[in-house]
Amino acid sequence: MKRLLVILFFVVLAAPALARPDPDVEALLGKMTLEEKLGQMNIFTSDWDQTGPTLRGQYQQDIRRGRVGAIFNAYTPEFTRKLQDLAVKETRLGIPLLFGYDVIHGHRTIFPIPLGEACTWDLGVIEKGARVAAVEASADGLHWTFAPMVDVARDPRWGRIAEGAGEDTWLGSQIARARVRGFQGNNLAAPDALLACVKHYAAYGAAQAGRDYHTVDISMRELWSTYLPPFQAAAEAGAATCMTSFNEIDGVPSTGNGYLINTVLRGLWGFKGFVVTDYTSIEEMIKHGFSKDAAEAGVQAALAGVDMDMQSAIFLNDLGKAVQDRRVPLAVVDDAVRRILRMKKLRGLFANPYLCSDPARAKRVLMSPENRAAARDAAKRSFVLLKNNGVLPLKPALKVALVGPLAEDRRNLIGNWSAAGDGNKAVSVREGLSARGLTLIVAKGCEIEGGDRGGFSAAVATAKKADVVVAVMGEAAAMSGEAASRSRLDLPGVQRDLLAALKATGKPLALILMNGRPLVLDWESENCDAILETWFGGTEAGNAIADVLLGDYNPAGRLVTTFPRAVGQVPIHYNMKNTGRPLDPTNKYTSKYLDVPNDPLYPFGFGLSYTTFQYTAPVLSAASLDARGALRVTATVRNIGKRDGEEVVQLYLCDRVGSVTRPVRELRGFQKIPLKTGEQRTVSFTLTAKDLAFYRRDMSFGAEPGDFDVWIAPNAEAGVPARFLLTEGVTLAPPVPKP
Ligand code: GLC
Repeated sequence: MKRLLVILFFVVLAAPALARPDPDVEALLGKMTLEEKLGQMNIFTSDWDQTGPTLRGQYQQDIRRGRVGAIFNAYTPEFTRKLQDLAVKETRLGIPLLFGYDVIHGHRTIFPIPLGEACTWDLGVIEKGARVAAVEASADGLHWTFAPMVDVARDPRWGRIAEGAGEDTWLGSQIARARVRGFQGNNLAAPDALLACVKHYAAYGAAQAGRDYHTVDISMRELWSTYLPPFQAAAEAGAATCMTSFNEIDGVPSTGNGYLINTVLRGLWGFKGFVVTDYTSIEEMIKHGFSKDAAEAGVQAALAGVDMDMQSAIFLNDLGKAVQDRRVPLAVVDDAVRRILRMKKLRGLFANPYLCSDPARAKRVLMSPENRAAARDAAKRSFVLLKNNGVLPLKPALKVALVGPLAEDRRNLIGNWSAAGDGNKAVSVREGLSARGLTLIVAKGCEIEGGDRGGFSAAVATAKKADVVVAVMGEAAAMSGEAASRSRLDLPGVQRDLLAALKATGKPLALILMNGRPLVLDWESENCDAILETWFGGTEAGNAIADVLLGDYNPAGRLVTTFPRAVGQVPIHYNMKNTGRPLDPTNKYTSKYLDVPNDPLYPFGFGLSYTTFQYTAPVLSAASLDARGALRVTATVRNIGKRDGEEVVQLYLCDRVGSVTRPVRELRGFQKIPLKTGEQRTVSFTLTAKDLAFYRRDMSFGAEPGDFDVWIAPNAEAGVPARFLLTEGVTLAPPVPKP
């Protein structure tokens, strides 16, 4: 409640400020030449990091000539001060630079990759992770992060599934809000604030075949129902900026899509921040075949509502002539510059351009023990126990054969998009387990990729000398993230063969996975005695894994993305449609594969514990609900195991009949609850007609009368439904604007 009041207070106060012309901004704008204005609409990367296809050597000269509004991939107090001096002291108007960076899951202290963090189902932990990232990044010279990435992703072949919150729109919207709150805090001018940038607008996760940058061709209903809500949530949470995506939607690249930016983001949602493109995505509209040349691409992007051009230099080089030729009104440029200058002022840079360039602050906060402790806490909560036949938790007296290409690795466990993170400062699994006094015998066995089996015999010999085998395997960090799609989802290289050789020793076999996407684990799920999914757990991953393997923490992570049985099932997600021929094993002519079941190996919401939870069937406070009423749904959850634990109690709904077909289940609530052994708790959710709303046949947003099923369950495939009737419909919003 307190947080809600703070947000309301901030939004109520800040929103009008954003809407009213700012006298400082107007005065400055009035002094600017057209070239200086175009300079503000331009962001270049430094040569400290490369996160896209091009670099521009003369970026420092560009700054001196007032041709740059922001720099990304530059940090530390010293370097940002040096570059800020060029802007503030050497240009005519001294307009300070914004410094941006991909602070995606931590800055120096690296947290679990976002897909892992989402598996905590703990909005407080997720917000805290963003807050720690902001405290470190802002101490290290940065004002702005290109996060949160809120792209709903349902295709694990797509490497960027690692960067988001998984397959569910409703959960992804809650997480988007938490991340914006965490990054920005409640005062954008505070020294430790970090401007958020909600990305990639929009529907980047729907790339065909899971191939990065590929075509997106989806219906308006799919766009509005699945992909836009997390962006709306982030905008409502006050995200300072938004980044357009590389992809097209239905033939129109997002960077030139006035419907997305001007009509929806600004016109419908009232977004007051500024819009930056992704890396060279204005120029890429030529390759898309949407623009005949750079000049046209610049006009299309400017008229669509883009304010800042990342790395194309097209606004800088071509927009001036477009304004002179009246292809772009000067007012469009002035509005863009106004939004950029207003955000620089809100970030406190007009008052102090060196706000974040203080070496003493950096020394105090970077990788502090408190930040590392927060990263360790988030990591252990992000892990998902997929299987355990009792081999976990490990007994400390056991002799452990620690095997696999990631057992001693540090660099990969901080994952992709780990920016300023330093793998050398991370804690490996071997170090984490050794620090707990475990007797380890270690053998790598094989590499992550490649066919070399030369290490197998030493690994098998090690296993034979031990009481239990812990195999740490998975993907390299670079096998997920940007430009990292995979056509297969099984363990790379010969890792599965090594597992088979270890299995043949007859020793208990626990598989610890490090990966940036769901994998196909059909063999592993049959042959390993335990499987712990740790994603890429960040700087403290080794210690967090030791916490869980030794039972100091009872794992409570739950999947936010479905694990398929086979890549051929993809896309597969829990909230699919029933179809007109749902699977009926007794009838040939129903929707199925000949060679694999329809259901996933591990469903959305799934995760085991070292204890066991039991659910009663849901009980309803009434058999029906009207447009103004509320319906309470309760169930009792009991810890019937021998250990204390935490359970993520999930609420799912099914609208049985609609003016358009509806998913078989939709998540509409969750509560993460601690339960001591033997303890039980009645968990209650309150539903109103608003929770039943969807984009109806006419694309209005509202609920329709009829029967609904509701579950209170441990995952998307479990539980028994209760049924209630919504007696009347409700319209919450008129039909969405047409493109
Ligand atoms: C990259 C990514 C985007 C990132 C930007 C700046 O190409 O698509 O997520 O924020 O460029 O590094």
